[in-house]
Amino acid sequence: MAISESDCPRLPQDLAFTIPLIMQGQELPQIILDLRSNKAYNWNSVTVLYDLTLSRDMITRVLTSLTLDNVDIAATASTIALMELTQNYSSIYNIHYVREVLTSLKWRNIGTNYLVMISIELVPLVMDISKNLKLVNTESQWLYIISNADLKNETNLDVIKHLKEGDNVAFVYNVTSSEENCKQGIQCHIEEVLDAFSRALESAILDEIDLAGQVSDEEWEAIRPTKSERRNFLLKSMKSYLSQNGECDNCTIWQMKAGDTWGREFLRNSSVLSVELLQVGYWKPREGPLMTDVLFPHVTHGFRGRRLSLAVVHNPPWQVIEVNNSSVTFRGMVADIVNELSKNLNFSYAVIPIGNTSSSKLNSDYDFNDISTYEIPDVIINLVRTRKVLMAASAFTISEKTKTLVNFTLPISTQTYTILAARPKELSRALLFMSPFTQSTWLSLLTAILLMGPILYLMNKFTPVYEYNGISVKGLSSIYNCIWYVYGALLQQGGMYLPYADSARIIIGSWWLVVLVLSTTYCGNLVAFLTFPNSDKPISTIEDVLNHPSLTWTIAQNSFFEEEAKTSNDPKYQELFKKSIKASINKQNMVQNIENGHHVYIDWKMRLQYMMKKQFLLKNTCGLALGKEEFCEERIGLILAKDNPYTEKINKEIKRLHQVGLIQKWLRDYLPKRDRCYKSRSTSAANNHTVNLDDMQGSFFVLFFGFLIGLFIIFVEKLLYKYQKKRSKSKSVQPFIT
Ligand SMILES: *[C@@H]1O[C@H](CO)[C@@H](O)[C@H](O)[C@H]1NC(C)=O
Ligand SMILES: *[C@@H]1O[C@H](CO)[C@@H](O)[C@H](O)[C@H]1NC(C)=O
Ligand SMILES: *[C@@H]1O[C@H](CO)[C@@H](O)[C@H](O)[C@H]1NC(C)=O
Ligand SMILES: *[C@@H]1O[C@H](CO)[C@@H](O)[C@H](O)[C@H]1NC(C)=O
Ligand SMILES: *[C@@H]1O[C@H](CO)[C@@H](O)[C@H](O)[C@H]1NC(C)=O
Ligand SMILES: *[C@@H]1O[C@H](CO)[C@@H](O)[C@H](O)[C@H]1NC(C)=O
Ligand SMILES: *[C@@H]1O[C@H](CO)[C@@H](O)[C@H](O)[C@H]1NC(C)=O
Repeated sequence: MAISESDCPRLPQDLAFTIPLIMQGQELPQIILDLRSNKAYNWNSVTVLYDLTLSRDMITRVLTSLTLDNVDIAATASTIALMELTQNYSSIYNIHYVREVLTSLKWRNIGTNYLVMISIELVPLVMDISKNLKLVNTESQWLYIISNADLKNETNLDVIKHLKEGDNVAFVYNVTSSEENCKQGIQCHIEEVLDAFSRALESAILDEIDLAGQVSDEEWEAIRPTKSERRNFLLKSMKSYLSQNGECDNCTIWQMKAGDTWGREFLRNSSVLSVELLQVGYWKPREGPLMTDVLFPHVTHGFRGRRLSLAVVHNPPWQVIEVNNSSVTFRGMVADIVNELSKNLNFSYAVIPIGNTSSSKLNSDYDFNDISTYEIPDVIINLVRTRKVLMAASAFTISEKTKTLVNFTLPISTQTYTILAARPKELSRALLFMSPFTQSTWLSLLTAILLMGPILYLMNKFTPVYEYNGISVKGLSSIYNCIWYVYGALLQQGGMYLPYADSARIIIGSWWLVVLVLSTTYCGNLVAFLTFPNSDKPISTIEDVLNHPSLTWTIAQNSFFEEEAKTSNDPKYQELFKKSIKASINKQNMVQNIENGHHVYIDWKMRLQYMMKKQFLLKNTCGLALGKEEFCEERIGLILAKDNPYTEKINKEIKRLHQVGLIQKWLRDYLPKRDRCYKSRSTSAANNHTVNLDDMQGSFFVLFFGFLIGLFIIFVEKLLYKYQKKRSKSKSVQPFIT
């Protein structure tokens, strides 16, 4: 038990009993110290505003309370700014003066916590001006300590009038009764505490004797209360006795109230509830602060579980509304974000479905709606602007056009546009073995063979070497043989005979050199062609679309990109827009057209992925492909009123969700899952292509044709042979004539 001077930190409340001796009218420093050690506020910096109701001496004591360093007090204010508010109470001069002081505060930017100790007359004025200067918002905390009055009805109303949606304002005010018979002083306290203590001790001893009488000594040793149990018992009974019968300082009471402001305007089915002051606790000299709630309820508990209304438009996969009888379910990516917001800001919500609430159950998860996010319905803008809803929990394009009417949250997603075109067809690989050389190369090769034969023949024929040496021109004596020889050399098979003459040998030698180069080049190229699949040229950029000779295209209607292309300075986009087909079209026919390679569609990449998935599920083929180029970034955000006080808070939450990657994850969850169409054509195939029959078929065809020709020739040879035999037979029966 301690009886201390005023302005001393109390001993821990659950272990001890501290009574500060406070002169009536000097409680302020003790209250501030008690609140601080109770962690009713947790401020690093604080701006103190005061007026003449505080004497110089009192201000010094208040500051000491705010800064006092003590092991038991965790929250310490490190920065303190002092502002004296006024000189006298003459009204008009005051307004200017207060405004001046608060404006200078705004620019000094000291922090967002304010401790205001002023007389009740000044309170509405300070509240009004600080609100106008935007010093009061969801982030800042204002604690008013009003010493000279009770917040009675009329002033109460005046104060409430200045509390606005989203403010964090708390009041501590003096409800001390000024009765005559209020007891005070050290003597009173000592008598009272000792009285309470002796009563507590008496009841404790009586209890223990009673219990000890019923059990044996050994048992009593086992069950008797420990020292700390006994202390707790004494403390508890003293406190309860004093709170009922204590008379010393019992006149001095300070009440604590907090503005219950958050979410009142956006409540579901309410005709705008007016702001209320919430009783959060009171302070008495003996007990210290007795809190029934936190001093700043919204700082700790956000919207305090209020049920707020949100306007929602059905637009999968952003937001999906399913109306079943009277129950509305809200899901989709934005719903995920809103759920997270509601968890972190502590509110629940009721959705107000706007427009085509319809949506019987979605046919499949790949039914991407065609609702534009670019055009915001007027209903939504009106609801938001008249503050009927906290926000429109629907994804809309952040554009300059609509920014003049409403504010947006930070972008929850950035969508890019791309091109949907036919998947490039793989070309036939039958003639793969021809592809290493171009046609002209093949042609000149053929000419070379045909020319080399006769040249070789002529060389052999006109050279005098054979005649001189008396050797016959073996093998190469006919043009026919020479051509075969050159052909054989080309296939690196060589011939049976080599020319004897040097001139012809040089011709052959240089031909071999040509063959070497040709065959090496061919082999190398063939390997390359075997590994890389050859396919059509894909349409992957806007230039491809524009330069294609016979392609039509459409741009998604009412989309951000259509607008951008229309107003763009870039001739590329201008041309794209001008030549696009603007009539509305049947989607199914269009997809068919695209698959056939006659048409191209430009839309969000995400939406195109949905279209591809749908087509895949429908036909089980992968006839569509996305362009490589992504253009025109469209930012998507939720809609808030321009003067919504929670914009900062919501943006902070969204930023956090981006940082931890939750939004990206949710978006990915709603995107079509990868399927075999997803595999990009070139890369995976090129890395790992095993040669198959498709690649080889050409050479087998050649073999087959050779075989056919061979058959044909053997047939011709047989015929010739028969014919000749017949002729020689008929000759043999002719009479021999000499
Ligand atoms: C609180 O009110 C009482 C009675 O109205 C008054 O005597 C006392 O001085 C006030 N306290 C302060 C700190 O002004
Ligand atoms: C203080 O105690 C006296 C005597 O018990 C009682 O008459 C009075 O109402 C009490 N005052 C308050 C404010 O509780
Ligand atoms: C709000 O609506 C619910 C049910 O729809 C109803 O129970 C409640 O009383 C309403 N509250 C007000 C303030 O009208
Ligand atoms: C939400 O508000 C309710 C009502 O004030 C409160 O009981 C609850 O603790 C709050 N929840 C959180 C997480 O702050
Ligand atoms: C509507 O809700 C009921 C139960 O709440 C459920 O049995 C029924 O299947 C739902 N209908 C649709 C179309 O979802
Ligand atoms: C809301 O819009 C106004 C006017 O365009 C702008 O000045 C303000 O900064 C916006 N608020 C937020 C939080 O973006
Ligand atoms: C290459 O193909 C074979 C058979 O198709 C497969 O087992 C292997 O995993 C592939 N390797 C790579 C790197 O793709």
